[in-house]
Amino acid sequence: MAALCVASQFDPGADAVLFEGDCRDLLPTLPDGSVQLVVTSPPYNLGKVYETRVDLEKYLEQQAQVIAHCVRVLRSTGSLCWQVGNWVDDGEIVPLDLVLYPLFVRHSLHLRNRIVWHFGHGLHATRRFSGRYEVILWFTKTDTYTFNLDAVRVPQKYPGKKYFKGPKRGELSGNPLGKNPTDVWEIPNVKANHVEKTIHACQFPVELVERLVLALTNPGDWVLDPFMGVGSTVIAALMHQRKAVGAEIVPEYVRVARERITAAEEGRLRVRPMGRPVYEPEASRATLPPRKVSLRAAQPPLALHGTEQNR
Ligand SMILES: C[S@@+](CC[C@H](N)C(=O)[O-])C[C@H]1O[C@@H](n2cnc3c(N)ncnc32)[C@H](O)[C@@H]1O
Repeated sequence: MAALCVASQFDPGADAVLFEGDCRDLLPTLPDGSVQLVVTSPPYNLGKVYETRVDLEKYLEQQAQVIAHCVRVLRSTGSLCWQVGNWVDDGEIVPLDLVLYPLFVRHSLHLRNRIVWHFGHGLHATRRFSGRYEVILWFTKTDTYTFNLDAVRVPQKYPGKKYFKGPKRGELSGNPLGKNPTDVWEIPNVKANHVEKTIHACQFPVELVERLVLALTNPGDWVLDPFMGVGSTVIAALMHQRKAVGAEIVPEYVRVARERITAAEEGRLRVRPMGRPVYEPEASRATLPPRKVSLRAAQPPLALHGTEQNR
């Protein structure tokens, strides 16, 4: 990247816009139908340092305002991707995608995938199973939407596999460009030693956004992140010759986003490569022999359906 124009208010001639403030003040300045992709991870209303916890209804009202603006600025071929996890209240979870879904549907958006983002690190729960996935709701504005599948194919499991009978005998059975990455994505989250880690507690990995940018936009298109954080969406967009506009209320995060863009321009920003296999420690790769099970062991007999009497 070289000599990028980074503005602080929306400017159609800029390469990137980093707006310091509430996204509800930025969004009205964007023209109708100007954005090809909205991708964001909003606050989850958990009382993190950057948010004030409010009741769920109030939170959904605030989200509805932002979503309405996003739909207005979205182009007819465009996509909207909302990446969320759970809201937790007194140990009970509310999957945010469930409660947010109606807010998108009221704008007649079309849900194309509910992508499961699976990752390895997080809090260790003691009263429920530890959460290790979040979701991305991918909506399109219309049925005529951009989807560049070839740009995001991943290696086949058996790349040279051929048909061994039938009219296609001897031909490759899979697409030589790779396979569809499916709706379950295995991408490490940005914790501890991740190369992209900044001061932000909840940044998402650039690789996650790159896949959406490549599949759902073309070079030169605008990508919007209303809850920009430290600019991971902006970086992913600029890396692939798209333009990016984001808003962030915490000035310190905007500063980090600017620094990351400068580092990328100077070729010194560290980003995890797309498609790198997830590291697995030696021990977890060890194969265990199959178990031998005996139902006649010391325990009392199980009440199975097919007992001697009723068989
Ligand atoms: C989950 S974080 C997003 C992190 C981002 N995806 C990244 O990779 O850095 C949500 C961000 O939204 C910001 N935020 C919360 N309310 C906002 C608002 N009304 N307008 C703009 N930003 C807001 C928070 O400060 C926080 O940085």
